[in-house]
Amino acid sequence: MTETRRYVGTDVPHDSARGHVTGESMYIDDLPSLPGELVVDFFWSPYAHARIRGIDLTEARRVPGVVALYTHEDLAHNELGPIIHDEPLLPVDVCTFRGQPIVVIAAENAAAVRAAKQAMRIDLEELPPILTIDDAVAAKSFIGETRYIRRGDAETALAAAEHVLEGVFVNGGQDHFYLESQAALVYPGEHDALIVLSSTQHPTEVQEVVAHLLGIDMSQVVVQTKRMGGAFGGKEAQATHPAVMAALVARTTRRPARIVYDKDTDMHVTGKRHAFQNRYRVGFTRTGEITAYKVDLYSDGGAYADLSPAVMARAMTHAENAYFIPDIEIRGTVCRTNMPPNTAFRGFGGPQGVATMENVLEEIAAYLKRDPLDVRKANCYGVETRNTTPYHQVVENNTLPRLFTELEERCEYRERAAAVRAFNAQSPTHLKGLALTAVKFGISFNTKFLNQANALVNVYLDGSVQVSTGATEMGQGVNTKIRQLVADELRVPLQRVVVMVTSTEKNNNTSATAASSGADLNGGAAVDAARRIRARMDEVERKQGRPVSWEHLVKLAYQERVPLGERGFYATPRLDWDWTSGRGTPFLYFTMGTGCSEVLIDRFTGELKVLRSDVLMDIGRPINPGIDRGQLIGAFVQGMGWVTTEDLRYTPGGELLSHSPTTYKIPNINDLPEAFSMNWIEQDNPINVGGSKAVGEPPLLTAISIWCAVKHALGFVSNGDLARLRLPATNEEILMRLTEYAKRGAAVA
Ligand code: HPA
Ligand code: MOS
Repeated sequence: MTETRRYVGTDVPHDSARGHVTGESMYIDDLPSLPGELVVDFFWSPYAHARIRGIDLTEARRVPGVVALYTHEDLAHNELGPIIHDEPLLPVDVCTFRGQPIVVIAAENAAAVRAAKQAMRIDLEELPPILTIDDAVAAKSFIGETRYIRRGDAETALAAAEHVLEGVFVNGGQDHFYLESQAALVYPGEHDALIVLSSTQHPTEVQEVVAHLLGIDMSQVVVQTKRMGGAFGGKEAQATHPAVMAALVARTTRRPARIVYDKDTDMHVTGKRHAFQNRYRVGFTRTGEITAYKVDLYSDGGAYADLSPAVMARAMTHAENAYFIPDIEIRGTVCRTNMPPNTAFRGFGGPQGVATMENVLEEIAAYLKRDPLDVRKANCYGVETRNTTPYHQVVENNTLPRLFTELEERCEYRERAAAVRAFNAQSPTHLKGLALTAVKFGISFNTKFLNQANALVNVYLDGSVQVSTGATEMGQGVNTKIRQLVADELRVPLQRVVVMVTSTEKNNNTSATAASSGADLNGGAAVDAARRIRARMDEVERKQGRPVSWEHLVKLAYQERVPLGERGFYATPRLDWDWTSGRGTPFLYFTMGTGCSEVLIDRFTGELKVLRSDVLMDIGRPINPGIDRGQLIGAFVQGMGWVTTEDLRYTPGGELLSHSPTTYKIPNINDLPEAFSMNWIEQDNPINVGGSKAVGEPPLLTAISIWCAVKHALGFVSNGDLARLRLPATNEEILMRLTEYAKRGAAVA
């Protein structure tokens, strides 16, 4: 195969770059109102757990402007859920989380919606909720079975270990904080048809759930996604709920119906990144080599399964991160609580497994009084040996040792580590900390059948080209990458190729744009289609006996009745995974990276400042370096929010207190590391499209270096304590730890 790379590998601007800045890009809420359009909203449970004693809508129905009100009785079916269908859209007799919709409202305007909510008589009897992982474990309230990945005999190896440490690592959740809230606009077509415009990562899931709950065929439902204003996993499974509500209204009233959550509602009612609570025991030698690791992962799944079992599976396959551990046992249990069902969020369990492991490495180093980077490097996966994961997949083309060494040199780790020690020895007001951590992120959906995609490429008589795939554009630039791939494959100018709106009418049975694999899968399918068209064109050209322009070739092919359209398909090769044995090859390859962060802490207020972060990744040969740089920076900053400031606070009754930007703190421009570098090594990945690697999620995990740097800093004043702290390391959390150490220091003195 001769490779022609004209556009692949270059900084082609994002296809919406201009539109996003000028405001030309349309989101669901921006679309002009349609004639007769209704406002859709819902009344949601104010309690985390409650019995429904009665629903009286008589008065609400009389409110002027109210067109219709719906309960579970108005649905043909009431179960949804991406893995198992255990979630009712509208509860029958018991509400199981705060924010669960009970009544769907269709009205002429927002004022009528508000009045209708006031006029509803919904008689709820509050029941005792389960709101924490501890409560769920005590009540044995779980979703599915505990699962295992095991190699060797961790218990025996722990008993024989020179040193053993144990502890519990606790991380909080994270709100997706996409700028565009959940939204859908549905209008009825002829007969039973519904056209659903949805802000979703997963048009096929929306199509399937709308059809099922309304009792119509999937063929009657067309779902279109032009773009999303961010998604981050939050629209992988939970865009279905608003879409079905609007579809129910559109189908029964035969009028267009639009639902757009406001920000506070969105934060209250949707699921988040999973909080975890992980108990670990680790055995190691006096030089810090890990000999045994036993980790028991518990996540807060919320009220229904949603994607929690798959998220837990990814946490489990990332629990050892970048490190070879001969004897290991990983257990994973999803807790059922009365929280909104927690869901996919960039990293999908990976960050929770990896942060637990990086915390352990920090503790081993502190305990042995060795440099944490030396401990990490001593345990890093090898290139030829020590390169098999606990689930028996071999880590091929391992660049981790190189990434560790190169970043160590580039960021002058040794000099700065010495400077941090010197600073802490003399500063009465501040503390510094430094940490260099790694990420090894498995690329592929951890559910084998999801690793497929199809694409449609149409060449028109003037030589212009349309490409349609199941990939959804959420700002990540997948459409631009597909455009580059197709232009190169057809050998046409980029301007001739347009990527069309994502629609279930053109691409059927697609997977969510998720697992960082949107460009891998859909790009692979688009290349397959384009390659077969180009092969036929080459044949037409050969018959001419001389080079022919693309435009002329298209006309010749048409006259020769050679088809000028093609449907491509891609299925990720080599995958094989078996839960019963906890063994196999769940991933096609790994995206790898290292991150080093230095932090400054005010010893009197706990205020945290990130002084410097350097990231070095192996992302293969990027299809679009500029877009990938954006992904790296965005992911790191989002990870920084998770590990430092984004604190979900609840009342004892389970009411979210931090439900708006005034109380929920995502990073802003002033929070960025004062010095910040993002780089990657030159490294081909021939097994994937264009030699590239997936970049959406992996770099988020390099921000764990910030949390480890905080732990490192606190270790200087913890009087021999392992400086245990929660994630996120908020200023408040840091201040509480400092206060605790100061009190203990005073007691000792
Ligand atoms: N990532 C995202 N979504 C998924 C996955 C995954 O690994 N598995 C199933 N759904
Ligand atoms: Mo994602 S968290 O794989 O949408």
